[in-house]
Amino acid sequence: MKATAVAPASIAFIKYWGKKNEVLRLPQNGSISMNLDSVLTTTSVEFKDEYAQDEIILNGKRIASGERVIKQLNLVRKLAGADIKAKVVTDNNFPTAAGIASSASGFAALTMAAAAALNLDLPEKELSILARQGSGSACRSIPSGFVEWIAGAASDSSYAVSLYPPDYWDICDVIAIVNDEEKEISSSVGQKLASTSPFFSARLANIGNKIKTVKGYLADRNFKSFGELIEAEALELMAIMMTSAPALIYWRPETVKLIKKIMEWRRLGLDVYFTEDAGPNLHIIIEGRNLESLSGELRGIKEVKRVIVNKPGRGAALTNRHLF
Ligand code: DP6
Repeated sequence: MKATAVAPASIAFIKYWGKKNEVLRLPQNGSISMNLDSVLTTTSVEFKDEYAQDEIILNGKRIASGERVIKQLNLVRKLAGADIKAKVVTDNNFPTAAGIASSASGFAALTMAAAAALNLDLPEKELSILARQGSGSACRSIPSGFVEWIAGAASDSSYAVSLYPPDYWDICDVIAIVNDEEKEISSSVGQKLASTSPFFSARLANIGNKIKTVKGYLADRNFKSFGELIEAEALELMAIMMTSAPALIYWRPETVKLIKKIMEWRRLGLDVYFTEDAGPNLHIIIEGRNLESLSGELRGIKEVKRVIVNKPGRGAALTNRHLF
């Protein structure tokens, strides 16, 4: 009873920030994202009668406080009517907890692998619903390519669907890492503060229109309008964070320097936009045909320690390449 799944991290174009139900991880609003093809989590899960307790090994290290993972295993065990402990080995091929969505890829891979290891043959929608309860954004790492998370009013209506496959649009997300330390405030903790921002209600009042508009730009593959909208959305998210009580400031001086540079490159004619999540690193969005020019510019910025180039990626999938 061993299974292994690979799941992608993603970048949200319309962000999930704020929950209407903490336990079920029901979001205040729907969101839109793109799966990434080079930032992946691989997770192997084995259920065995001999195991006395759940054991979790993340990037080669045994995790002492794995409650969130165990809770997720419990959900899957309950569904399968199984009472067996598991060994979980999981590897990220990117820095964990640095504003790259490691909880999304992590809980998507864990959910898919655990369900398969217990012989549950679940449709994509059910997997997405399950993954969501581990980490909200994980529900979007189950379907392929460009994805919408439908907020839903209850657990069974809050899940993600694919809008377009990965090859629909040749755009890239170039993650520019300026800092790869673990972030001080996790997004789960940060999200609880969203409603303390005086601007949060204004955000929610407009978010339905925003989602409709961005879906229109996606349908038309209108890069310029799309880029402008998602950059404004990222800045809106930062504004909500900065005006929460207590204030959340994920930016570092290097982040701001790079934002200014991106704006300058744009003024000089390079069609490039940024977005970001709960961390100091930027996701630079550019059409595939302009990737070379961007890479050249980034090589000149000493604050950028590393770049990870991503094309739109497929969703979570099972593999035979087990980690143990
Ligand atoms: C800023 O999915 O990490 O990346 O449900 O508490 O695990 P939990 O939150 P999480 O939040 C991600 C927030 C974000 C925006 C996004 O991905 O939409």
